[in-house]
Amino acid sequence: MSVHPIAGAAAGATRPAVTLPRLRESHARGEKIAMLTCYDATFARLLDEAGVDVLLVGDSLGNVIQGESSTLPVTLAHMSYHTRCVAMGRRSAFLVADMPFGSYEASPQQAFAAAAELMRSGAQMVKLEGGGSTVETVRFLVDRGIPVCGHLGLTPQRVHALGGYRVQGRDDAAAAVLRADAAALADAGAALLVLELVPSALALAVGAANPGLLTIGIGAGAGTAGQVLVLHDMLGLTPGKRPRFVRDFTRPAGSEAAAPGLSVAGAVTAYVAAVKDGSFPDPELHGY
Ligand code: KIV
Repeated sequence: MSVHPIAGAAAGATRPAVTLPRLRESHARGEKIAMLTCYDATFARLLDEAGVDVLLVGDSLGNVIQGESSTLPVTLAHMSYHTRCVAMGRRSAFLVADMPFGSYEASPQQAFAAAAELMRSGAQMVKLEGGGSTVETVRFLVDRGIPVCGHLGLTPQRVHALGGYRVQGRDDAAAAVLRADAAALADAGAALLVLELVPSALALAVGAANPGLLTIGIGAGAGTAGQVLVLHDMLGLTPGKRPRFVRDFTRPAGSEAAAPGLSVAGAVTAYVAAVKDGSFPDPELHGY
């Protein structure tokens, strides 16, 4: 039996609540935003206490919790359940929840109903993948009081359309589309933008062109306003070859050797410190 009481969101906060205005203020001061995925109350409490700014209930739970080979089987009910779990463990960190595949593409009205469900479960912002037709939906949600995080570059819900998990925006035409999508999402009111698997120079240019948009990179270099990793990846728990952009924070920097005694909390604290001091990602090791 666990001896750790899991406090609800309102109980005993140890740092001021992380809010959108506070994220913007820290960005203006030059402080990087540390984001990690999170799927349950125990990890929410641990990540929050380690100083993670933003918890993302990612639909990557399809891979790392459910054992699926993609995020496509994840449903709105799954996302609501895990969002509620994280909300129960969170104290101060900002909580973003992914809109799963099939919950927002048909119409802005469909998206609003799904987003409202996630907000009722404790999300403070929802994340949608893609530009193009997603832009109108983002505007619809923002106009109705739902904060939105966009997601461009490698969008895993479109893995079959993209032909695999690979770096996006490498050629001029693809980079121009990504830049235009980012500008359109910013204009529609998105506050955060995850950039996944894009060349570092492109991610830097997107941030510079859209100062109102906080860019969060994953495999997008060191020039974004913040970084995100999948929790199980940065804890070295994901089997198989580690992608180039991931660092296993349970091991000493640059080492493949196991680091006996480095706790989960220690690894997460090291991640937050490395994001904040700019040592992660390392342009030589983790960028494209
Ligand atoms: O679902 C997820 O974990 C994500 C991250 C990869 C950003 O969207």
